[in-house]
Amino acid sequence: MRNVRWLSERGALRLWRRPAWLPDAALRLSIVLFVLIGGFVMVRRALPVAMKDREVQVTAAMEREQAREVTYAGASACGDCHEDKALLKKDGYHRNLSCETCHGPAAAHIANPTEIKPPAPRDRQFCPTCHAYDLSRPMGFPQINPITHNPVKPCIACHEAHDPKPPSVPGECRACHGEIARTKEISPHALLECTTCHTVPEAHKVTPHSILPTKPTTRDFCGGCHGTESKAVGVPKVDVKTHGEKYLCWQCHYPHMPELHRREVQR
Ligand code: HEC
Ligand code: HEC
Ligand code: HEC
Ligand code: HEC
Ligand code: HEC
Ligand code: HEC
Ligand code: HEC
Ligand code: HEC
Repeated sequence: MRNVRWLSERGALRLWRRPAWLPDAALRLSIVLFVLIGGFVMVRRALPVAMKDREVQVTAAMEREQAREVTYAGASACGDCHEDKALLKKDGYHRNLSCETCHGPAAAHIANPTEIKPPAPRDRQFCPTCHAYDLSRPMGFPQINPITHNPVKPCIACHEAHDPKPPSVPGECRACHGEIARTKEISPHALLECTTCHTVPEAHKVTPHSILPTKPTTRDFCGGCHGTESKAVGVPKVDVKTHGEKYLCWQCHYPHMPELHRREVQR
């Protein structure tokens, strides 16, 4: 021990002198790096070929996949024997679903149609996998709440699975504008039809956001009944030229619930 110190004190053990510009930390780091790389090279050499060669791996994976039994028959495999169902589905809302989406893999069924039959999902639990309300589904996708939507009965009691129909278009304004309809019902305008003031294209009921009804745009529109020149009977009259100045009538009166005024007192 004493000999080693004697030697090192005299610089005899200093085989390599660290240059001043190289920090001490860099030296230690490079030793660690060296050990890691060396270890990696040694482990890699020791591994069997099958674990290193990409070619060998790809071939093995392909063999494994090819050895699997084919269970799905494909989207066009059912129509030959079940033409009625294929025709039913062709133009319906489920046209983009393949038969096996609902009936499960059916290759075995095609090979032996009478012995092996794919299940038909008649259970009420099945359809909500796609149709139960889920915020992440695209806007407009038909969704229902399976708990409140016609409970207990199976879905197929009311919907034909191969050609489901969308709900029929509501004919009345109140189906979609319930709040306005209920408000108007108890207002002085109760007896006025919605279409007295709005011209509604039939298509508005199908695509309400893109095809909009008209709305009154001028003071004269209301003046048609309420103006002093109007011949409408039983309608309170105002002088359209002066009443409410330049403002539109519905800036002061909500048209679906025009408030009653103290007519009796004024007269
Ligand atoms: C080679 C003809 C053939 C092909 C192809 C075929 N089927 Fe069938 N399928 C049959 C026969 C036959 C029956 C039995 C009919 C019966 O029992 O009345 C049947 C019955 C069924 C049933 C009824 C099972 C039940 O519960 O009553 C379903 C569902 C079905 N097939 C689905 C499919 C689907 C899905 C495909 C396509 C992947 C398909 N089939 C392709 C011949 C075929
Ligand atoms: C949305 C899911 C769905 C799709 C897609 C679908 N089916 Fe069905 N299928 C059902 C349900 C549910 C039943 C049970 C209907 C019933 O009992 O009234 C059924 C019943 C059947 C039956 C038995 C009919 C019977 O009267 O017993 C056959 C055959 C059949 N489907 C074939 C097909 C074929 C062929 C396709 C593709 C062209 C297809 N299905 C696509 C859900 C589906
Ligand atoms: C008692 C009959 C009945 C049963 C059972 C039933 N539905 Fe409906 N479903 C309807 C009617 C009627 C409509 C039309 C909408 C309306 O008028 O409320 C409808 C509408 C729908 C719509 C369209 C909703 C939209 O806004 O576009 C979907 C999707 C639907 N049903 C799925 C299902 C599913 C899934 C089940 C089973 C869990 C089911 N239905 C059970 C009668 C039924
Ligand atoms: C794999 C997913 C999937 C399954 C399972 C499924 N559907 Fe559908 N359904 C769809 C798609 C996709 C549409 C078409 C939506 C569109 O065109 O915007 C649709 C449309 C409908 C519609 C038309 C509603 C409307 O307002 O446009 C009804 C009703 C319906 N399905 C009922 C059912 C019933 C009943 C079942 C069970 C037998 C079922 N669906 C199973 C995906 C599915
Ligand atoms: C299928 C549902 C539905 C039916 C039925 C319906 N509407 Fe609408 N309506 C809407 C929706 C949704 C909007 C909002 C459209 C938007 O702002 O994108 C709307 C907007 C309107 C507007 C406002 C247009 C605008 O420029 O702001 C009027 C007015 C209107 N509807 C009147 C009617 C009348 C009158 C009827 C009956 C004859 C009717 N609607 C029937 C769904 C409906
Ligand atoms: C007396 C004429 C009149 C009648 C009747 C009437 N509306 Fe309106 N409605 C208007 C006017 C005016 C506006 C524009 C209000 C505005 O721009 O602030 C309007 C606006 C609307 C709007 C746009 C949203 C809103 O609240 O401003 C909807 C939706 C609407 N009406 C639906 C209906 C429906 C549904 C009925 C029948 C139940 C109806 N209207 C009956 C005059 C009428
Ligand atoms: C088709 C004729 C007609 C049109 C158009 C019409 N109204 Fe009326 N309005 C009436 C009738 C009828 C009453 C109810 C009178 C009654 O029985 O008290 C009424 C009542 C009113 C009242 C309540 C007055 C009161 O003191 O009782 C106001 C405010 C009013 N309308 C404003 C409007 C406005 C604003 C418009 C335009 C958006 C309009 N009206 C369009 C027929 C019309
Ligand atoms: C600046 C707000 C304002 C505007 C704009 C306005 N009104 Fe009025 N309106 C009132 C007020 C406030 C009253 C109640 C005070 C009164 O009895 O004079 C009233 C009362 C009425 C009455 C009841 C009169 C009666 O004798 O009972 C009718 C009908 C009426 N307005 C229709 C209209 C029509 C139609 C227009 C558009 C041409 C219109 N208003 C525009 C504020 C307005």
